[in-house]
Amino acid sequence: MIITGIVAGGTGSRMGNNELPKQFMELGNKPLFIYTAEKFLGQSDYIIIGMNKEWLKMADFLVKKFLPDSKNIFLTEGGSDRNGTVKNIITFAQNHLKCSNEDILLTHDAARPFVDERIIAESISAIQKCDICTAAVPATDTITISHDGENADDFPDRSKLYLVQTPQTFRLGDFNEIYNSLSEDEKKTATDVCRLFMAKKRKVMLVKGSNENIKITYSLDYQIAKFMAEK
Ligand code: CTP
Repeated sequence: MIITGIVAGGTGSRMGNNELPKQFMELGNKPLFIYTAEKFLGQSDYIIIGMNKEWLKMADFLVKKFLPDSKNIFLTEGGSDRNGTVKNIITFAQNHLKCSNEDILLTHDAARPFVDERIIAESISAIQKCDICTAAVPATDTITISHDGENADDFPDRSKLYLVQTPQTFRLGDFNEIYNSLSEDEKKTATDVCRLFMAKKRKVMLVKGSNENIKITYSLDYQIAKFMAEK
């Protein structure tokens, strides 16, 4: 079984839009999280959206309005951080949809509306050969490491650097096993699921992402996304 988990439990603080989290902003005449979730409709058995508690009712209304015929879309409460939202999505899948530890979860940022069919298909194929796979693209800027924010400590070889995107794809049981084995401190430093798996020395594979698969973080990204959606 293939399940998509759309992580939409954030507040979008860097967007500077205080009224509405960014996942509700309009793109292509629909809310951003709907625009993103639709990309997975043909390639998953279930889609579970992890949403901030106070916005669950509104999200439910919007799913019914924009996707009235989709019986395989569910909402659950987001967590206090991104991995917590993933955890809640898995708990929902196992408790309410009877999903097993071997079932595959594609986790994807609601804020990345331009994921395409190829990336999704290649993620589903790559997970047969690894513990977790993630979309990624080669870095185009030189990247430096600085521990104090003032002095550069290293300039790693750019040809070996990649920018990590989503989907990140793995089996439900592997996530549970790893997540439950980490201390609270370890959970805090691992900002995405790949880092959790890496901490336990699991095999992480890269799937070719795309330069269009941008994450809407700042207001400028939203302007670019609106332009791309019109195109
Ligand atoms: N996310 C989530 N649950 C959280 C925090 C984030 O599901 N507790 C999701 C966001 O909704 C987003 C994705 O993770 O789709 C990537 O996170 P980011 O772009 O950082 O979103 P926000 O946390 O909403 O943004 P900001 O950091 O600017 O507040």
